[in-house]
Order: sequence, then C-alpha cells, then structure tokens
Amino acid sequence: MRIADFALERYFAKWEFAVEHVACASDVEGWSMAELLALADDETRSMWDGLRLGYTESTGHPFLRAEIATLYDGITADDVMVFAGAEEAIFCLMSTSLQEGNHVVVTWPGYQSLYEVARAAGAKVGLHLLRGEDRWSLDVDRLMRSLHDETRMVVVNAPHQPTGVLPTEAEWRRLAGECRTRGIRLVGDEVYRFLEHDGATLPAAADLDDRAVSIGVMSKTFAMAGLRIGWLATRDHAVLDRCARLKDYTTICSSAPSEVLALIGLRARDRVIERSREIVASNLALLDDFFARRADAFTWVRPRGGSTGFPRLVTGGPAGTSADAFAARLVDATGVLVLPSSTFGFDDAHFRIGLGRTDLPAALEKLEAFVGPSA
Ligand SMILES: Cc1ncc(COP(=O)(O)O)c(C=O)c1O
Repeated sequence: MRIADFALERYFAKWEFAVEHVACASDVEGWSMAELLALADDETRSMWDGLRLGYTESTGHPFLRAEIATLYDGITADDVMVFAGAEEAIFCLMSTSLQEGNHVVVTWPGYQSLYEVARAAGAKVGLHLLRGEDRWSLDVDRLMRSLHDETRMVVVNAPHQPTGVLPTEAEWRRLAGECRTRGIRLVGDEVYRFLEHDGATLPAAADLDDRAVSIGVMSKTFAMAGLRIGWLATRDHAVLDRCARLKDYTTICSSAPSEVLALIGLRARDRVIERSREIVASNLALLDDFFARRADAFTWVRPRGGSTGFPRLVTGGPAGTSADAFAARLVDATGVLVLPSSTFGFDDAHFRIGLGRTDLPAALEKLEAFVGPSA
C-alpha cells in the first residue's frame, strides 16, 4: 500500500517530545492512572485487579461496547466496534468502504487520514473547503453541489479540528437527510463531541441514519489519549464486518488494560467531561483575551467546540506573515510549539493552537513576549 506521509504526525514526530510547551495539542491533558483508578466502581475495580493479560475480544470488551453505546440514542453494544484509537478505526473504515472510482467528500483543512486513506484506497477525494472569512462554517449547499453519482461517502468532522467550527443542528440534520435520500454514507468524525463551547451537542451521525457511521475516541473529550481506544458506531453491520476482517491484519484486538481503563473513564464520564470542559473553558477565555489584545498580529475566529483553534497571522503584523517561519522562530526562541497550517496542506498564514493543556497559560506568556509589544 502506498500512502502519502501524514504531515502533521511527521511534524509531531520531530517536535512533540523535544519541546517545553506543546501549545498545539488536540488532546486534553491526560488523566493520571491514580486519579482514574479512584473513579472505578466495585465491578471495574475488581476487573482491574483481576485482569489477565491475554488476548481480548476482537470487537471489543462487551462491557466497553455497551458503555460506548450509551453515548448514543439508538445504538446497542452490537453496533459498536473498538479499535486502537480513532486512527485505526478511520484506517479500517476507509480502506474497506471505498475503492477505485468512488468519490468521497471530506471537510478541509482537517485530519489528514480522513482523506488520505480514502485516496490510498483509490477513491477520488473532493475537499470541502472551510473558509476563515465565513467563520469556517460548513456550507451545506456548496457541499451538496459537489456530490455526484459516484459519491459514496461524506465525511464531516464536528466539532472540527483545527478550526473548532460546529454546524448548527439544522445544518447537520439537513446534510444527514440529503445523504440519506441520495444513498450516500455520512461519516461523522465526532472525536471532540461533548466539548462544545457554545451550542448544544449535535446528534451523532449514527443516530441520524442506519447507514451512517460515528467515529469516537478516548483521546480528546475523555482526556485519555494514551489508552489508544477508539471506536466506530453504526447500525450497518456490513461495515463493521468488513472492518473486523481488516483488523485481523492490524491489531487483532485491543489492549486489555486499556479496555478496562476506558470502561472506568466512560462510566465516570460526567466527571471526566466536566474536567475537560473546565480546562478548555479557562484556556479559551485566556486566548479570547490574548487575541483581542493582539489583533495587530492575529485574527481569531473563536472556536465553537473541540480543543483547538486556528488563528491567522495578520499580513504585515508583528508576528510576520509566514506561519512556517513564525512556528520555527517561536519554537527555537521559546520552546513553545504551534502547528503551522502547511501541515494541513492548507496555506502559510494560519496555525493551530490547543485548548486542552494545563501549561497553555505559561506557553501563552512566552508567545506574547516573543511577539513583542503592540505597535
Ligand atoms: C479529527 C480527528 N480525528 C481523529 C483523530 C485521531 O485520534 P487518535 O489519535 O486518538 O486515534 C484525531 C487526532 O488528532 C483528530 O483530530
């Protein structure tokens, strides 16, 4: 299989563990084991204490699948398959659902594997451009016009990474309805679901249509990226069956400790989500204030959900005009890492900033000192 490099991951491979502040992470500050185990109920505590490190059920632990199903309205444990992160779920879904000649539309700029794996499977990808001047909003009419007879799938990441855009419920339901009418599979990358800053949690794709697929993960809203537990939810069991056959060649089954820890986290999800929302809300308030003060250097479209934002450099402003150059100078001088938009193949004017890490206030102080005083 030939597949283009995942530019964002190559960038992180170079920098993530070499810098003082990762100010562009998309995950939320991870839970410690001690804090997480303190949330266990009697059943999960004894599952943890008595855990045997053998292979696990390929589709995922039945208790975990049942718990994941409760995140949805019309999904049962049998409609859920567990993977090694959302990444493996995306890989299996795109590789087995698409082939040469198919067309797929994907929101962009966005998470590269959502369209790169589709390309590697032979599909033609139409990128649905989100525009900063439109506050990154999803343009359902324009998206619908890009569909044609060969379109098999529409992939929407909402809340969206990196822009933080969140469609309105009316837009989302309209898109789902159009896809259903035209027999096109809607895929919702919902890994930032439940992290809305303004606006309600959208209904999951898998709840809107029998053929639609929802992608979820423990890494973002649930702040446990190190578990590497993600999932697909869909009532279309043919999709899950095809994925299961590919998973036999990838991980076979999930990590036994991670499954139990994910179950503990999901059973305590009110507390887990509340913690993530608190971290993100306090960082967002700081960023709103920072970008309001530094409108000479940055343009800020406030994210509506998720744990990232995508500011733009003001042309001719004190931070310079090239995001690549800005990111390189910043990390060199301060140890603060931001993610330039070229890693999304997008432009050279934006960068991703992360809302989920507790060292963001310190990173922002360094960034501000680096940019220097306002004119
Ligand atoms: C939109 C989106 N989907 C999927 C993923 C993959 O999640 P994970 O790395 O936890 O598998 C990410 C990670 O950044 C993401 O931003």
